[in-house]
This record gives sequence, structure tokens and C-alpha cells, in this order.
Amino acid sequence: MNKYNAIKQLELNRQEMNLSKESMEFILNICRAIKPERILEIGAFNGYSALNFSLVSKEVISLEVDEENFKLAEENLNKADCNNVKIIKGTALETIKTLNDKFDIILIDGRKSEYKNYLELSLKLLNKNGLIFVDNTISHKNRLKEFFDYLIKSNLYFKELNLGKGLMIISKDLSVYKGTKFYCNINT
Ligand SMILES: C[S@@+](CC[C@H](N)C(=O)[O-])C[C@H]1O[C@@H](n2cnc3c(N)ncnc32)[C@H](O)[C@@H]1O
Repeated sequence: MNKYNAIKQLELNRQEMNLSKESMEFILNICRAIKPERILEIGAFNGYSALNFSLVSKEVISLEVDEENFKLAEENLNKADCNNVKIIKGTALETIKTLNDKFDIILIDGRKSEYKNYLELSLKLLNKNGLIFVDNTISHKNRLKEFFDYLIKSNLYFKELNLGKGLMIISKDLSVYKGTKFYCNINT
């Protein structure tokens, strides 16, 4: 089965935990424009978003703590003959500390109570012009107080995109986007 058919199958059998179609499409469109070399994802679940990322990036690393979900993701990626995604089993907070490469895109979609810590660690792994996406920023807002407090006090640029269950975009430096539609959208 090719990747497109595998994605279609996962979409026909969409699970509550999957990134919404509109959020996925938005991130993919940004990726098509900036052509990321490397994407990091925190929270693989069944591999749906990782498989999508594999279409737009040379390399994808996805972190998953749950044994069952890890196996499911591996199964779905293997079915699609996907060989540019590596799923690392373990607690994201521990695994992130072992990563040395820099990433152009990072998706935070793991344990909500750890979002602030993911963000802090992700910033160290993000390329200068890289982007962080954070899912569930509306649906789980009441569990993300620490994350929002951190964000508001930071010098980061951030914007709620109001897609799916809430999708936030975060960047360290906006100068690279000057003149684009995307630039106008952030922090306005
Ligand atoms: C919302 S789902 C991810 C959905 C996936 N990004 C997608 O769109 O298909 C969250 C996943 O994060 C995993 N997770 C939760 N806590 C974690 C942790 N501490 N480290 C790594 N993964 C974790 C869960 O097991 C679950 O599979």
C-alpha cells in the first residue's frame, strides 16, 4: 500500500486522538512552503500525523510512550512502506534530552500536563527559522495553564489558529516570514 492510501485508510477510520484534518492540512501546507529537512513529533499514537509528515520532510522522528500505540504506529508505517519515520518508544521528556539534531518543525501532541516542559526542550532543538505547532490548545485549555503562563512571559511569537481542537503556532524569530501572509497573522 502506498502512503496516500494508508493515510486515506486512517482517515476513514479517524480516531479522537488524531490531529484534525484541517490542522493536518494547515501544517502540511506550511511544510510544502518551507520544505523541512527534519520534523519532530511528540505523541505518535497510530502514526497518522507521522505518516503525513513523511510526505513533506526527509526525516521524521516521533516519540511515543505507550507500548500499544507504539506497535500500532509501527504497523501503520510498515504497511505504507514508510522508511523515513523513526518512532522512538519512551517518555518524551527523557527521549528529547537524548536528541542532538535540530528540527525545522516540531509538533507538540503528547501529555497535556507536560506541554510547558516539551516547549522548553523543543526550543533547544528548533532551528532558528523553525516552527512549533501545538495541538489541543482550545479543547484542553484548562489543563494547559502552566504552558500558557510560560508562553505569555516568553519572547516567543505565538498565535492560536482556531483550527481543529485548537492549533497554536510558535516561532522564535519572525523576520524570515516578513512580507508573507503568514507574518501578518501572528500576534495580531
Ligand atoms: C493525541 S495523541 C497523538 C496523535 C497523533 N499526533 C496523531 O495525530 O495521530 C497523544 C499520544 O501521546 C502519547 N503520549 C502521552 N504521554 C506521552 C509521553 N510522556 N511521552 C511520549 N508519548 C506520550 C500517547 O500515548 C498518545 O499516543
